[in-house]
Amino acid sequence: MQQQFESIFDKGGDLIGISHLTKNNLDAIFDLTRSLKHEEISAREQRRVLEGKTLAMIFEKPSLRTRVSFETGIFQLGGQAINLQPMDIQLGKRETIADAARNLERFVDIIMARTFAHRTVTELAKYADIPVINGLSDLEHPCQALADFQTVLEHKGRLEGLKMAFLGDGNNVSQSLMLLAAKVGTHFSLGCPEGYDPDASTLTQAKADARTTGSIIEVVNDPIEAVRDADVVVTDVWASMGMEEEAAEREKIFAPFQVNSALMSHAKPDAIFEHCLPAHRGSEVTDEVIDSPQSVVFDEAENRLYVQKAVMMILGS
Ligand code: CP
Ligand code: NVA
Repeated sequence: MQQQFESIFDKGGDLIGISHLTKNNLDAIFDLTRSLKHEEISAREQRRVLEGKTLAMIFEKPSLRTRVSFETGIFQLGGQAINLQPMDIQLGKRETIADAARNLERFVDIIMARTFAHRTVTELAKYADIPVINGLSDLEHPCQALADFQTVLEHKGRLEGLKMAFLGDGNNVSQSLMLLAAKVGTHFSLGCPEGYDPDASTLTQAKADARTTGSIIEVVNDPIEAVRDADVVVTDVWASMGMEEEAAEREKIFAPFQVNSALMSHAKPDAIFEHCLPAHRGSEVTDEVIDSPQSVVFDEAENRLYVQKAVMMILGS
């Protein structure tokens, strides 16, 4: 079993962002995720995969889903997790990121990091000779995008040729989704207020990848245009962690991009609704949408567990 996983990524590889993954990597992750979810690999067999291994989880920001799904996941694979909160290691303050990485690699087998600056994750990966997984940075949230596309696969049976519309801020979640859409041939329309566009180089990369898969990647400022005929409608908080002081101003600017029943009526009638959670009900999404039969938000949360187990198996075994 181990051999099979090692051939997918280089041993000691990292998951820094979707931008680094190939279509083959993505197919391998989705296949393994499905096998884990349907217990094609028995629970007993799973417990041997990372037996005795330790995952260090570094958090510079709060978390429910990432912390619980990673900790549960490594436990189910036979390993254990250490939860490191900001006060524990004070990354970059008490000692350099490079020195923290060079210490951690002597103790643990995998690092998962949730950081403010994306550069913190890349620095950890540069200096730690063990797999580093991005558990959300200001640039990307790759584990979330993998779980979201796994959820689309489950509900729609395919990814190619579908249209995903993301409403709101051109943030970390939207950027990972856009990159993944481009790699698997899903059309992606980001509807955001002017000035809240995604990162320019991420958009350029997504458009370049899209040329090989035929997906259309666009950024528009009209929420109805973004959502028109979409198969998947996605949103996220308007002010990400660390932007709390902008929250009141953003509430006003983003109001036309709220996902409510009126906006959903422009998507396909069988469109599904996704949100990475936590949701600010009454802001970016109304109760009637997030609690509707079209909403698959808790499937996405559940799939974080299986997708991350797949990633840890591939990178860490
Ligand atoms: N979606 C997500 O990453 O949730 P947490 O912030 O709770 O980990
Ligand atoms: N964009 C959000 C995602 C939270 C899971 C944030 O960065 O806070």
